[in-house]
Amino acid sequence: MKWRYPLSDIDLGEEEEREVLKVLRSRWLSTGPVTERFEKAYSNYLGGGFAVAVSNGTAALHLALACMDLRQGDEVILPSLTFVATANAVLYVGGRPIFADIVSPDDLNISPEEIEKKVSKRTKAIVVMHYGGYPCDMESIGSIAKQHHLHVIEDAAHAPGSEYHGEKCGTLGVLGCFSFFSNKNLVTGEGGMVFTRNQAFAERVRTMRSHGMKALSWDKYRGHLSSYDIGDLGYNYRTTEIQSALGLVQLKKLDRNNQKRRKLVEAYRKELQGTGEISVPFPKCGTGPSYHLFPVLISPSIPREKVMDGLRGHGAQTSIHYPPIHLFSLYRRQFGYKKGMLPKTEDVSRREVTLPLHPGMDVQDVNWIAGKLKDVIRKM
Ligand SMILES: Cc1ncc(COP(=O)(O)O)c(C=O)c1O
Repeated sequence: MKWRYPLSDIDLGEEEEREVLKVLRSRWLSTGPVTERFEKAYSNYLGGGFAVAVSNGTAALHLALACMDLRQGDEVILPSLTFVATANAVLYVGGRPIFADIVSPDDLNISPEEIEKKVSKRTKAIVVMHYGGYPCDMESIGSIAKQHHLHVIEDAAHAPGSEYHGEKCGTLGVLGCFSFFSNKNLVTGEGGMVFTRNQAFAERVRTMRSHGMKALSWDKYRGHLSSYDIGDLGYNYRTTEIQSALGLVQLKKLDRNNQKRRKLVEAYRKELQGTGEISVPFPKCGTGPSYHLFPVLISPSIPREKVMDGLRGHGAQTSIHYPPIHLFSLYRRQFGYKKGMLPKTEDVSRREVTLPLHPGMDVQDVNWIAGKLKDVIRKM
């Protein structure tokens, strides 16, 4: 279906085309010098540290969690209102996911109070996810982590460019994981980044990214290396020079595009305020978010599917962020999780609708979509 208003769209132009062409002509396509440049630029953007480019955001989460050295049955506290990859990565390393509820319908992020209730002797780490690019309460979460000697890992898939008290999201925990999937604020098709200021973790992530080898195929290609040793189990989570070339250009556009998103979100808020059946989370969002998503909550008396169908009829694409992970068959079967465990998460995930938001839109588009949403609801 061709949408009049797709949920997201990418801002790719001639500069990306030129840079990709240069890579193709260089005849080296796997991780190499362009990726090194992307890593440096990304770590500079985040304020300095180690950035390791990987094949996608899920790989970034896997490698960050692998640094936690979990033993079978060790627990990781995380939200259920996130993409399934956040939790699957815990399973990849043999951990038990312990889901904590969100703060409220106004703040869809993991609740520090709920985290604290879930800490046990088996807890090894906390994974937070900055929902829609709105930063979690990292101060409270950091102090709980400190008190219980736990590491905090950030799933910053939605949060390239988000700031919390002047610091970039993805730098607030011990390891930050980014996704550059095609619908994200910074797009490389598939792609991801692990950021850390801990040198030992950076080295481990770098090694695990490429089979456990200390050096890259690029070093062999340049004749810097003929043999190698494997010290730790690794994976092939390398990225390509093509993706890194895209990432370098996209990074230059990130702040400007996040500002465009902010203007659109302000317009949506203005247009939807005072509509009894619709509430907009994160009312006190300040200027820090990356505005990755624009979620609204529909009153429980209105069937959400009908709202989504109504908008589809007008050519506007919507989505749900997210079905709660603890109620997926796999998680129910493997861990015995049940409905009612996380009442706030479950309530929000029944009522949430994500509206189109991307930097290619303008305020008229927002007003049109918001107007149609109100019409659809009025006619019910
Ligand atoms: C919150 C969240 N975490 C993790 C991921 C996984 O990233 P990727 O698709 O790059 O593997 C995504 C996105 O797709 C996401 O939205």
